[in-house]
Amino acid sequence: MSLWSGLKSLGLLELLVYAPEYSAELIRHRLDRFDRVHGTDTNTSVAVGDLAGIGANQQSAELYWPIRAKPFERMMAASGRDLQPYTFIDLGAGKGRALLLATDFPFQRLIGVEFSPALCEVARWNLRLFAERGRPLAAHAEIACADACSYVFPEGPLLVFLFDPFGPEVLRPVIANLVASLERVPRPCVIAYYLPMHEDLFRDAGFVPIARQRRGLHLAYPWVVLQRPVPISLDSVAARALG
Ligand SMILES: C[S@@+](CC[C@H](N)C(=O)[O-])C[C@H]1O[C@@H](n2cnc3c(N)ncnc32)[C@H](O)[C@@H]1O
Repeated sequence: MSLWSGLKSLGLLELLVYAPEYSAELIRHRLDRFDRVHGTDTNTSVAVGDLAGIGANQQSAELYWPIRAKPFERMMAASGRDLQPYTFIDLGAGKGRALLLATDFPFQRLIGVEFSPALCEVARWNLRLFAERGRPLAAHAEIACADACSYVFPEGPLLVFLFDPFGPEVLRPVIANLVASLERVPRPCVIAYYLPMHEDLFRDAGFVPIARQRRGLHLAYPWVVLQRPVPISLDSVAARALG
């Protein structure tokens, strides 16, 4: 993708606000060696207009391009916890780069949600490649080929990752589903949001920032890590009292 076609494919808001960071990220994207090192297919970006069979929320979708390893690793470290009990969920998983990077962390389970059947196929192929190279988490990773709006969150502690996948029309119902799930079964939930264009929607739903990278002269995309305080219910107080 050329710099110009890339800039044109951004929304107007993103273009106005993030053009310097986007231009610098595009150069880093060109220099990215992940696929050359691993033999995967994750780096080539795909415009939303080139995706078929993605349903009604096409208007709200952002193009596919992958997160780089460095910011991903920084966000995981910034979550500041033992990730072993957590399920990693990438909403808008694309070709699966974030899932592949997540295999370096001790997650319980990996799930990618992506509404493009073509991108889901590429993600599965990439995961198989990682699995053959002895990464057990990749062997058991799941790709849910679905619109994030209709995704039902699994049980257990959650780390939900997003790389600016969609606009507020989709993010609102996604957050409503997530909050309903957390209220039904209270459990820890961390949000790792790269290029957090709609962070306010998470804050409005009771999520609290615990770490962030702000914009600056480094000209890298900002990110934020948030969590939702788990209410101390009578049940958990009782469970602790019982030892
Ligand atoms: C910027 S890419 C992020 C890719 C991946 N998460 C990563 O970090 O490497 C955003 C992805 O979100 C997907 N997407 C957009 N809207 C979606 C929706 N409503 N449901 C599921 N996936 C969606 C796009 O197809 C695209 O692959």
